[in-house]
Amino acid sequence: MSSGVIETSLSNEALNIHRALASLQEELEAIDYYHQRVDASDDESLKAVLAHNRNDEMEHATMLLEWLRRTIPELDIQMRKFLFTSGALTSLADGNEPPAANGSGLGLGNMK
Ligand SMILES: [Fe+2]
Repeated sequence: MSSGVIETSLSNEALNIHRALASLQEELEAIDYYHQRVDASDDESLKAVLAHNRNDEMEHATMLLEWLRRTIPELDIQMRKFLFTSGALTSLADGNEPPAANGSGLGLGNMK
């Protein structure tokens, strides 16, 4: 994995964000590798092991995403805008009113 350029004068916060992003990249790559191998294998017991491992990598990736969300305010805003919605993503990106979230919204839209 290439972790990209690292500036020499980064703050501790920026370094930690870089560490989390690099780790997230590695977890996503692992998900992809496992997923491809699950798809390609013709051995059902190996498929099951690989699928289990792939799903563990999803847990790891999600934990990192949550750490990043808690750490980067703008990421928190974007995740609240897009995640757990059901409407067209391009509509949400254009700043239109998001549709009701799937059971996670606050339900305050019609309080008059
Ligand atoms: Fe992992």
